[in-house]
Amino acid sequence: MKRLIHGFKLLTTALLMSGIGNFVAGATRVGELVCEYHTDPIGIDVEKPRLSWKIFSDRENVTQSAFQIRVAELPSNLKKNALVWNSGKVNSGQSVNIEYNGPKPKSMQRLYWQVRVWDHRGKATPWSEPAFWETGILHSEQWIASWITMPNEKKAEESKPCHYLRREFAIAKKVRSARVYVSALGLYELYLNGIKVGDELFTPGWTSYKNRIQYQTYDVTEMVRSKVNVLGAILGDGWYRGNIGFNKQHNYYGDQLALIVQLCITYTDGTVETIVTDDSWKATTGPILSSDIYNGETYDARLEMPGWASPGFNDSLWSRVEIKDHSRNVLVAPQSDPVRAVMEINPVKIIITPKGETVFDMGQNMVGWVRLKVKGNAGDVVSLKFAEVLDRDGNFYTENLREAKVTDTYVLKGEGEEVYEPRFTFHGFRFVKIEGLSDTPSLENITGVVVHSDMQPTGHFTCSNPLINQLQQNIQWGQRGNFLDVPTDCPQRNERLGWTGDAQVFSPTAAFNFNVAPFYTKWMKDLAADQLPNGKVPHVIPDVLRGEGGSTAWADAALIVPWNTYLAYGDKRILEVQYSSMKAWVDYMKNRAGDNYLWIGDNHFGDWLAFPIKRSGSQESTTEKDLIATAYYAYSTQLLANTARVIGKKEDAEEYELLSEKVKNAFVNEFVTTEGDLISQTQTAYSLALAFNLLPDKSIPQVAANLADDVRKFQHLTTGFVGTPLLCKALSDNGYEDLAFMLLMRKEYPSWLYPVTKGATTIWERWDGQKPDGTFQDPGMNSFNHYAYGAIGEWLYNYIAGIQIDPKAPGYKHFFLAPHLGGGLTYAEAVYKSMYGEIRSQWNIEDNQMNYEVKIPVNTTATVTLPSALLEDVLFNGSSLKSIVEIEAWQNEKGVSLKLGSGEYIFNYPL
Ligand code: BGC
Repeated sequence: MKRLIHGFKLLTTALLMSGIGNFVAGATRVGELVCEYHTDPIGIDVEKPRLSWKIFSDRENVTQSAFQIRVAELPSNLKKNALVWNSGKVNSGQSVNIEYNGPKPKSMQRLYWQVRVWDHRGKATPWSEPAFWETGILHSEQWIASWITMPNEKKAEESKPCHYLRREFAIAKKVRSARVYVSALGLYELYLNGIKVGDELFTPGWTSYKNRIQYQTYDVTEMVRSKVNVLGAILGDGWYRGNIGFNKQHNYYGDQLALIVQLCITYTDGTVETIVTDDSWKATTGPILSSDIYNGETYDARLEMPGWASPGFNDSLWSRVEIKDHSRNVLVAPQSDPVRAVMEINPVKIIITPKGETVFDMGQNMVGWVRLKVKGNAGDVVSLKFAEVLDRDGNFYTENLREAKVTDTYVLKGEGEEVYEPRFTFHGFRFVKIEGLSDTPSLENITGVVVHSDMQPTGHFTCSNPLINQLQQNIQWGQRGNFLDVPTDCPQRNERLGWTGDAQVFSPTAAFNFNVAPFYTKWMKDLAADQLPNGKVPHVIPDVLRGEGGSTAWADAALIVPWNTYLAYGDKRILEVQYSSMKAWVDYMKNRAGDNYLWIGDNHFGDWLAFPIKRSGSQESTTEKDLIATAYYAYSTQLLANTARVIGKKEDAEEYELLSEKVKNAFVNEFVTTEGDLISQTQTAYSLALAFNLLPDKSIPQVAANLADDVRKFQHLTTGFVGTPLLCKALSDNGYEDLAFMLLMRKEYPSWLYPVTKGATTIWERWDGQKPDGTFQDPGMNSFNHYAYGAIGEWLYNYIAGIQIDPKAPGYKHFFLAPHLGGGLTYAEAVYKSMYGEIRSQWNIEDNQMNYEVKIPVNTTATVTLPSALLEDVLFNGSSLKSIVEIEAWQNEKGVSLKLGSGEYIFNYPL
């Protein structure tokens, strides 16, 4: 039935289409099973893991009416019905995040599961292929390993050589399976018989170390040898005791590195042997002379110890380790995606700068490091320095990195081609300055290794404007670079901290580009762990600013991030888990505000880095912080009420709904003038009032008109971190979408596209990081990779492509498809891989004809709005929409709307 329209631009979305190709014609099947968002996870400690699946069908309008899950200890038991848990047939349309409800899982237990569903006609699918999850160490007393540390290390304020630890052990029986559970104070790399275990980086990750330290679980069945084996580990300072924060802090969490390892080997006879860290391990230092996240790594290859992690190595000169007294109760299993080397980039050119520096251009501002390939003599020193930009004259520019030394130094051993890459540091850079090469530099000398949390890519947006496409690329690169286990402000200077404000404004955009549910689940637990007893939320999470916090719009990450995660994934659990933290933050504001419901007088960051408006004596120069604080107080309280309702806390829901109303009224009384204007006549103030629903209906048109007037007056945005994410939305939702498009399409400073015209490949911290004359902003605060202003990404997906969440059916169980045309765009396409499957919204305009193609996943429905359409003109899959009796379509002021079930559909109509 599908008609291909002449000239229709079909874009490749292969990346997002995986897993949909192989099904039998006419069939509906279940696939892509995940547990806690991961495929076949091992080492999890969630007591009631949640199971999700996707349904694929070549029919239209398919929904699930019931499901059945069965769980067994072996895949073969599933068929035999020798089950640990059988859900029975459950009449439910839920196919995302269903709680396992069988007997409590034991530690280190693998359970296999499969599912079948009944469609809307009551027809059952075949059972899915089995999937599994495996638990880690669920009870802290099951940790029998000790924390071990290198003895007699002198206290120092700068990075010391990394530690190497090893232990040999012999086994006598045949191995059936082997798991190793590992963690560290500091960062670790684990080796078994000379080979690195797993491909995860920056383990054990960064958490609120005093309360939670992650351990990783690896399946090492294939790595254990018969007879003699060696476990080895390298420990680096990392976040634990390296430089952290902009206050020159060292040893923030502790000054001693430590390792804990528990290797459990199950033999074919069913017996289990456990090898642990204890005082029989030996330790030394080696070639990594220093290693620091901000400063880089120094590696002397002449000090390598070949075979140190393999059997037979002579460790007689190594010292014995000491047992370190440190809690094991803090050990938790990871929930986020691990950090990995996700992609590699080759440099595009070598530049000799006016100052004579040899600089590689990677062509992309990236985060990670470079792999160096060199030849030379023993003792030759090659150094690599990293920068985001070249200055106006084309010289290497590092002033904006502040005190971070960002230098990797490699001392050659002189043995032919040598390959080096660092382990426990990362850099944010596009340019690499190399010194000390004995040969002429060549592009083969370095390869960029892009490192970030390995989140599943879920979103894709393109349109007919190449500059907007570059903006979208920059947003995605900003996310890659700043989602390195923690959502950081920036990846390059001596900061790289989990700034809460930046994270919350970017969270809706983040959830389009990648699946961030696991990432935020972890980070939110750290937020709750680091929250102060009075509810105050630290500015950065994990907190390394000694509890400094409580700023409006920053601390509200406590509410906004879980709420956005719930909306994007239908994840109720994050709301349940975070509830007390959310409530504590709202109660904190309630205490600060007192009886008049206005939050006045506290210290806040305000509309950080807003365009400076200079008009003397005018209140317009900045948005009043008290106004922002009270707006966020109302908004977060509303979210708390919503949350309470979702998780069944009725009384709280009523209480906080009422409180939110009172704060809104107080906001209006205090900040809205009798003429219907706001006390702060700024785009940020207007956007907050509109987007947060703070105004009575009668005031909305006036405030919206004032916002529009202000935009017209300036012809550009004037917003900072607080206003920017809301500005275009406030304009679009209140009848001024032409202005939203004008702001988006603007190429001069200040605008989103100005950096693009300057060659940016990531989002800048400031609207004028590089000024029109080529000079830079204040180096004390000038990152070229800060995702906050990338929050416009949400508007690209929501409005231009028109994919919108329905808060009443979160996680895209029901959603809206309503593209907004404007800005001279002639086509746009977004693909979003939801928990149910792929959503596509793709339109183009040709000869005044609108062609719109959509895809709606099985077990969801969408309300589609065709902008500026007349019902009688619309062709639906080639036939007149009006004549199709099964479809209810209605004309409204936006165009034509209709409700559709799963399938792929094409609309054509004249504009
Ligand atoms: C960070 C910001 C952060 C801000 C707080 C800066 O140093 O880089 O992104 O939100 O401080 O105002």
